[in-house]
Amino acid sequence: MKGRAILKAALKGENNAGRPPIWVMRQAGRYLPEYRSLKEKYSFVEMVRTPDLASEVTLQPLRRFSLDAAIMFSDILVIPEAMGQEYTFRPAGGIEMKQKIRSEACINALNSDDIAERLSYVGETLKILRKELGEDYGLLGFCGSPWTLACYMIEGGSAHGFPTTMEWAQKSPKSFSALLEKITDALEQYILLQAECGIDALQIFDSWQALCPDQNLWNWSLKWIDRLVKSSPDTLPIIVYANSSLARLKIISQTGCNAIGVHHHVDLKEARRELPGNLTLQGNLAPEIMETDAISVKNETETLLTDMKDDPAHIMNLGHGIRPNAKIECMQALVDSTINFGSS
Ligand code: CP3
Repeated sequence: MKGRAILKAALKGENNAGRPPIWVMRQAGRYLPEYRSLKEKYSFVEMVRTPDLASEVTLQPLRRFSLDAAIMFSDILVIPEAMGQEYTFRPAGGIEMKQKIRSEACINALNSDDIAERLSYVGETLKILRKELGEDYGLLGFCGSPWTLACYMIEGGSAHGFPTTMEWAQKSPKSFSALLEKITDALEQYILLQAECGIDALQIFDSWQALCPDQNLWNWSLKWIDRLVKSSPDTLPIIVYANSSLARLKIISQTGCNAIGVHHHVDLKEARRELPGNLTLQGNLAPEIMETDAISVKNETETLLTDMKDDPAHIMNLGHGIRPNAKIECMQALVDSTINFGSS
């Protein structure tokens, strides 16, 4: 079975390849020398906005490793940018945006119209990729969740604990909802664009969901993801990633998403016992092990694969993004142990 077919089957809970599909994790580029050498010539934003470069960066990991699918090279921040908030990265790390969204006037100034036109470069990148990947590999698109994007947009970049966002959400729920609604409007158009340009599944990153207190989880975050799941084409599987507890994963599944990206702090076997069998689970090796050695990675990978053996709805992945210090030999061991699982 080819990568694209294995991925699609696992998303339907019907995989019978004897092993799960595997794809490379978010922010995957930084540990690869070929990515770093392109970055000496072009800025991150330039690469994201240039379809030939963005598709090249997407394909780089596939040339080294026998992965089953690729995630497009882009960033969740293209949505705030398309709405009027440009971004860069701080030299010492972290995101820096031009403005901060701090008032209703700022929300009104954001533009959520014609998103597909303003992000047409993403569509072009996906069309190139779909053609290159054919049936051999699956293709994943992605976006940030409305809550996670609001965190960056309000703070104007990375901020520990996103205090201004937390205060706004608590004190002025009405205007805060207006912002989430506007972001959701933009995301609906963006998801449709990606679906039309050939992705096999879309992952929504709710990276900062853990900041939402239990009593606000639905109104601040999941309600909007629920709207995105319901408004996206029925044929497009949606994977929701959140750094959350098992109890929360059950609530996330109420959005009707097809799959959940499980953080490495949650035991995947236990998650499988507690969650519906037709919900695909993706994950969840700890990213730290990619900084150890090939033997340790092989052992950890085989333990996880044995735990999930014969589960037709498992996608192999890390429990969060791969780190810049990940070793290539560890990535090689992860991919090889997965694709050879059960065959020796
Ligand atoms: O695997 C891939 O490369 C796919 C593309 C991808 C990127 N970002 C490229 C990227 C994906 C899926 C993302 C998602 C993303 N971006 C998220 C959600 C995932 C998560 O980690 O929870 C978030 C929160 C962002 C925003 C963002 N972009 C952050 C926090 C950072 C790190 C900033 C820093 O200074 O460390 C980025 C940068 C980024 N996005 C890089 C890549 C390859 C690294 C850029 C570089 O240093 O070259």
